[in-house]
Amino acid sequence: MNPIVQPTNSLLHQQEKGPEMKAILTGAGGQLGQQWLEWAKGQSGVKLFPFTRDELDITNAAEFDKKLGTLKADLWINCAGYTQVDRAEDEPVQAFRINAEAVAGIASWCHENQIKLIHYSTDYVFSGSDEDRIRYPEGYPEYAETAPIGTYGMSKAEGEKQIQKRLENALILRVSWLCGAFGNNFVKTMLRLSAERTEIRVVADQVGAPAFCDDVVVQSMDLVRLDARGIFHLGSRGLCSWFEFAKEILNTWERSCTIIPIPSSEFPTKALRPTFSKLDIRAYESLTGKSCPQWKNSLANLKPKL
Ligand SMILES: NC(=O)c1ccc[n+]([C@@H]2O[C@H](COP(=O)([O-])OP(=O)(O)OC[C@H]3O[C@@H](n4cnc5c(N)ncnc54)[C@H](OP(=O)(O)O)[C@@H]3O)[C@@H](O)[C@H]2O)c1
Repeated sequence: MNPIVQPTNSLLHQQEKGPEMKAILTGAGGQLGQQWLEWAKGQSGVKLFPFTRDELDITNAAEFDKKLGTLKADLWINCAGYTQVDRAEDEPVQAFRINAEAVAGIASWCHENQIKLIHYSTDYVFSGSDEDRIRYPEGYPEYAETAPIGTYGMSKAEGEKQIQKRLENALILRVSWLCGAFGNNFVKTMLRLSAERTEIRVVADQVGAPAFCDDVVVQSMDLVRLDARGIFHLGSRGLCSWFEFAKEILNTWERSCTIIPIPSSEFPTKALRPTFSKLDIRAYESLTGKSCPQWKNSLANLKPKL
């Protein structure tokens, strides 16, 4: 499924005519889910129906009709996911249950109820190989072949396929290195460690670009308003390693801690991670006519809730 625009957007027309756009939000307790809720506070034309995991477990499709049927929503924004990359290696069944089987259930429900699905996926669906880095110097385009190297990426890639089998008009939005004001992320980890230590060792041979949750929400809405469908890559411009990202974080918050670059081999993890994680965000830019921010600018604007 490649990015396509459908200019006659029913959701946009509803907004122009006045009625609210109503969206189910699952995974509302996660970092991206909370950012959606924060964004919606400032919007008059959009109403979110948020569900944390306790309020709606996405693996329990039998509950969907009862909990969602009467809401008459136009959209389902799914921010829920099994996101623990290392633990997924020990819990593949659980990872696939949430990231693939439950997503299939959501897509089927959206199909039956004729509502649009917005679902988030990841750079981990790609291998990040050296060959791909040469082939895609601007980052992975949406049409690049997926070839995940770990269980988490495999489960997310399978979730994408399950949606594509069931829905023509879904939006699958891939993001990388997600960071925001809410929840846990690399920025918060670096700020915490820099308060506790004088030195932090950070991997310097994995490159990509952070996507900031506030940017991702705005970019997602841009695509919803255009009734875009298919896969899009969202996030920031620029490229950095985790080491360079960490240095910029400490710079921004004026922390004196030293960051030491190390190879991935000195920081073994249960799951393999792609060494090249950059997503090409130009399809979003050309469709919307907007430029994605440079990651350093978005970082400078971040106000983490610590
Ligand atoms: N974080 C990243 O760096 C990153 C990078 C690329 C893509 N993504 C994708 O972006 C999306 C949002 O990520 P995020 O960072 O916001 O993740 P997150 O902070 O881990 O939030 C995920 C949320 O999903 C909930 N959840 C898990 N299983 C569920 C279930 N069975 N039913 C309902 N809710 C469930 C979690 O609840 P509990 O906390 O109670 O388990 C959590 O609140 C995910 O699809 C993720 O794969 C993330």
